[in-house]
Amino acid sequence: MKLFDVYPVNDITITKAQGSNVWDDKGQEYLDLYGGHAVISIGHTHPHYVKRLTDQLSKVGFYSNSIHIPLQKELAEKLGKVSGKEDYQLFLVNSGAEANENALKLASFYNGRKKIIAFKKAFHGRTSLAVAATDNPKIVAPVNETDNVIFLPWEDQAALEKTFQENEISSVIIEGIQGVGGINVASAAFLQKIRSLCDQYNAVYIADSVQCGYGRSGKFFSHDHAGVNADIYTMAKGMGNGFPIGGIIIAPKFKPVYGMLGTTFGGNHLACAAALAVLEVIEQEGLMANAAAIGEYLITELKKIPQVKEVRGVGLMIGIDLPDELAHVKKELLFKHKIFTGEAKPNVIRLLPSLALNKEQADHFLNAFKKELAN
Ligand SMILES: Cc1ncc(COP(=O)(O)O)c(C=O)c1O
Repeated sequence: MKLFDVYPVNDITITKAQGSNVWDDKGQEYLDLYGGHAVISIGHTHPHYVKRLTDQLSKVGFYSNSIHIPLQKELAEKLGKVSGKEDYQLFLVNSGAEANENALKLASFYNGRKKIIAFKKAFHGRTSLAVAATDNPKIVAPVNETDNVIFLPWEDQAALEKTFQENEISSVIIEGIQGVGGINVASAAFLQKIRSLCDQYNAVYIADSVQCGYGRSGKFFSHDHAGVNADIYTMAKGMGNGFPIGGIIIAPKFKPVYGMLGTTFGGNHLACAAALAVLEVIEQEGLMANAAAIGEYLITELKKIPQVKEVRGVGLMIGIDLPDELAHVKKELLFKHKIFTGEAKPNVIRLLPSLALNKEQADHFLNAFKKELAN
């Protein structure tokens, strides 16, 4: 059987990984500033993470949500403490798209409405509602098309207000920092406007924190920088440091009903152990503060480089916008300098490293980047 060939891959096979480094099958070392798409939050094969998962696997790896799983309660408690949202409720799933799908659905159950506001350049996943709220017609199949999603320009408060006046809005879904869209940081004023309109019209504010959440911005949720509380936060990626787990945290005003949401795999023993290990390491090693400090250092240094068009981002979610003539730099960083980075179309290099990246590693990247630009 052949693989269904949907991914354009780099000709590299990774066989070992530790912290912010990976090694290929020929023993070549790489610096990983991509983290497999913002997934590696605490660093590859962190010893505490490996131990917690291994210990759990030898006890019980999986059982469904038909029995008590105390690890879920432990995770909810820890998540409440680390995120500061202690009065919220946790529902566990397996991926970012599934988190957004459930958030949009829960919003609609809550207020009985259908219309969703999403934004230009948004990415929310590939399942039916999540992809319908994603601004990329190429990945929306005819069966996913719906007129229930209204796309508005980013940061346009007047358009937002008018859309609320003219429609029965169920929810607004927004990434605090757009990832796939090229690292666009939502202003505090824009997020505050969304909050106040959602309050005024009893609509649901959904903070897609799948990529920008879990400490990456230096605060637990990037929306925290704006001083607002969303009604539902969606999470995945960094949550399990590579173990597939996602979740939504839900404000107290939403009342659960048996059977309203459900999943077979969500919240299984191994997934909870992975997510707990991640939170324990984030807390014990001060990784949010590290993300804030190293992120600020990188952004400051990158802004000094004259060839760079623009640097956008907060914490360790950074976009380096390059002019067309430097579009090749990302490939050179990988194949010549052995540094993994992410990208966004057309010419943005995305840095999405582990939150444990240190200054030496940041400097290694800055030197290689400057050297490449000087060529
Ligand atoms: C902001 C955002 N939301 C949702 C998703 C979908 O997550 P997943 O691929 O886990 O379904 C992604 C993935 O890149 C994302 O960046």
